[in-house]
Amino acid sequence: MDWEQALERWRALQPPRHYLSVSDLTPESAQVVLELAHAMKRATHAGNELVRFERPTPVALIFEKPSLRTRVTLEVGLYQMGAYGVYLSANDIQMGKREAVMDIARNLGRWVHAIVARVFHHGVLKELAEFSGVPVVNALSDYEHPCQALADLMTIQERKGMRPLQIAWVGDGNNVCHSFSLLAVMLGHTVRVATPEGYEPAPAIVQQAQAIGQKTGGSLHLMRDPIEAVAEADVVYTDVWVSMGYETEREVRARQFTPYQVNRPLMRLAHPDAIVLHCLPAHRGEEITSDVLDGPQSAVWDQAENRLHTQKALLGLLLSTGSHP
Ligand code: CP
Ligand code: NVA
Repeated sequence: MDWEQALERWRALQPPRHYLSVSDLTPESAQVVLELAHAMKRATHAGNELVRFERPTPVALIFEKPSLRTRVTLEVGLYQMGAYGVYLSANDIQMGKREAVMDIARNLGRWVHAIVARVFHHGVLKELAEFSGVPVVNALSDYEHPCQALADLMTIQERKGMRPLQIAWVGDGNNVCHSFSLLAVMLGHTVRVATPEGYEPAPAIVQQAQAIGQKTGGSLHLMRDPIEAVAEADVVYTDVWVSMGYETEREVRARQFTPYQVNRPLMRLAHPDAIVLHCLPAHRGEEITSDVLDGPQSAVWDQAENRLHTQKALLGLLLSTGSHP
């Protein structure tokens, strides 16, 4: 796929203006982003770029929480495409404190071609989208991490091809679990999510996944037992037990999540060729042991690299079809 083909297919799909949730995509539009990401990865590795913006293309990068992968892949990816990020930390703009979110959105919409934001409250993203007039991308909220999900599914496609798979999620039914489950079901996979009681994915996400699955053949199943989830799985995915913003629950969570560690004995129950995913940062010895994270089944470094290629594909498409000042 080249860039012109990708853009033509994307335009024909009545594409989303924003990417706040995986549910902004359809199976068809998700596939365009992923196919373009694979092509962009090949091009970048060969020393070429598929997308080069001709006019100055600034993108606001708002981060209310820390980040390694998301920030670096956005800044590097935008630069590679001839665009650039304007980094704004929580302290710089103090959204909702120094200035109302809607006013920040209206200001940014006069200067930048898109806003990418990592926020505590998902509603802030909706407000930025409503008032800015430019594409808004969710770089992680308390509810979803949809950019992560694109890299996750790209990595699965690289390692396992396009066939429907059995996928186990082990641990917290959190933001990453939400986006991953939606996209995996959208692409026809079966996802078994094992969480402690009280940490299940949100009912609205489960409903959305079930509705998507009726069209794609994918499905989402909730359970308690990590052994049941991992049995014969092709992919095993975990995330931290304590997400950003939940630090006061650390002790309680550590007790409840102990049986959900992804370790060698658990991995022996998965398919022998199973791969392990983790969005990172990993807390070695908590949700995942070092021997698994560093072992032959781990795909986490490819997964981290693919944040770059998937976000370039997504932003290339959104910036080319969105309105801007
Ligand atoms: N996986 C991920 O989003 O990493 P960062 O928090 O470092 O951006
Ligand atoms: N669930 C984690 C993901 C970090 C990338 C968090 O929200 O902190």
